[in-house]
Amino acid sequence: MFPLKRRKITKVEDENQENKICKFPEVAIFILERKMGASRKAFLTRLGRSKGFLIEESLSSSTTHVVSESNTGDEVQTWLNNHTNRQDTTHSVHLLDISWLTESMAEGRPLTPQDRHRLKTSTEPSVDTTTTLMKSYACQRRTPLKHHNAFLTDALEILAANAEFNENEGRSVAFRRSASVLKALPQAVHGMDDLRNLPCLGEHSLRIIKEILEDGTSREVESTVQSAQYQAMKALTGIFGVGVKSADRWFREGLRSPLDLIRTGQKLNQAQQAGVRYYNDLNRPVTKKEAVAISHIVEEAVNAVLPGAIIELMGGFRRGKEVGHDVDFLITHTEEGEEEGLMPKIINWLEKQGLLLYQKTTRNSYLESKDGPARPPHNMDRFERCFSIFKLERDKDSSRSLQETASYDSSTMEGDDRTKEQEPVPSWRAVRVDLVVSPYSQFAFATLGWTGSKLFERELRRWAGQEKGMSLSSHALYDSKQQRYLRANSEEEIFAYLGLEYIPPCERNA
Ligand code: CTP
Ligand code: MN
Ligand code: MN
Repeated sequence: MFPLKRRKITKVEDENQENKICKFPEVAIFILERKMGASRKAFLTRLGRSKGFLIEESLSSSTTHVVSESNTGDEVQTWLNNHTNRQDTTHSVHLLDISWLTESMAEGRPLTPQDRHRLKTSTEPSVDTTTTLMKSYACQRRTPLKHHNAFLTDALEILAANAEFNENEGRSVAFRRSASVLKALPQAVHGMDDLRNLPCLGEHSLRIIKEILEDGTSREVESTVQSAQYQAMKALTGIFGVGVKSADRWFREGLRSPLDLIRTGQKLNQAQQAGVRYYNDLNRPVTKKEAVAISHIVEEAVNAVLPGAIIELMGGFRRGKEVGHDVDFLITHTEEGEEEGLMPKIINWLEKQGLLLYQKTTRNSYLESKDGPARPPHNMDRFERCFSIFKLERDKDSSRSLQETASYDSSTMEGDDRTKEQEPVPSWRAVRVDLVVSPYSQFAFATLGWTGSKLFERELRRWAGQEKGMSLSSHALYDSKQQRYLRANSEEEIFAYLGLEYIPPCERNA
């Protein structure tokens, strides 16, 4: 039995007009077209309805029997996982071979399904409904911030980061998807049995998980963490303004840390210079309290230059995180057009107050094309936006506690520099801040696009493209079938267009 959400059984629906009389309304049959083809499905549908069977046009929460031909139970189950919307369940469906339907039609009534009719899934799904119902796209699931499997997801995310360092995106995304599935589980994984029927767990991820469950650690993860390449790439890409390509080049030249860049007099661009200068601060997590302090500054700046503008906190802090690597803001004004040219004014104000250590602003370059978005849609970063580093005054408490633990972090850039303990801790710290300005008509899309998590965003776009024939960006949603843009005033509307259950920000921590 495959659990689905129950709605009241509707008798004969419009789409069943061909049903002369629906004689068995309690058995709602859905015929899977997959591998069977449209014409055979249409034939079986007509035949079934002529005999009084209730055959549904599409899978719904009232479906009781799913019938398919030449599919394995696992294939049908995967299909259902992708085409049902809810994780909560109150009833189940039978997964049956076509022989059940043909025999039932020969008998003139729906037979009680026998073992020979049932499609075998790799396990008995009814044993554990949560694993059976785990959807395969992260945007179909609720992923809380705090979960039960950090001991596994941390390991998988190390391998994901390492794959990124090696510019193997496919492998990196595969590890991130696996980790994300474990984050969505309502309980800790104790054995491999707990993973039955979960989507997205590839052979490599399963091997790592098995090792950790059995031995407490994974050799591959351990050796990755200890490798010179991983450590250097982590340190070098940890510099603001440094991507994988530069980091890899420096690593091949024998450089291992930001100090090595200074010692060897590497040519750095402005962002990288700031990144090296504020390396320690920028690698220390930003607290919620600091994010709130930054919010007040941004509000003051925006209100000074455009009263009535709307300022929303985005990114990890909107998802409920307690710390972040930066603070993200989205700014708009209800009167479209008012927001134009806003960013330089904000930056100007902040600079006059001496609050900026670094900033780089890019102008809005988004243009809606009549023919829909370019493919692949690379219009993620077209807003007027600013990558910046703020100079944030420390409150007295945090200054004092830092002073007391002046040798706070062995991974700091000073490394073994013994003199630093004598140096006074500055009265301020550097904080990365991202500012984005969006026209009001794109605000819902921008909000959805800038809330994250990154994997959640990626999965939303993949779902839109692969399952809905739509193209989603932080600016717009384009329906390729209807060849038109779909307008939305809220995130809820966008989820609805995409045929997805609404997931609130605090459950988008995929
Ligand atoms: N984003 C984006 N384009 C970029 C960078 C980021 O659209 N060039 C979006 C990401 O998709 C994400 C959001 O901005 O949804 C926040 O990104 P980021 O600040 O990098 O991550 P957070 O989730 O906020 O995590 P952290 O707490 O580490 O900052
Ligand atoms: Mn962020
Ligand atoms: Mn950011």
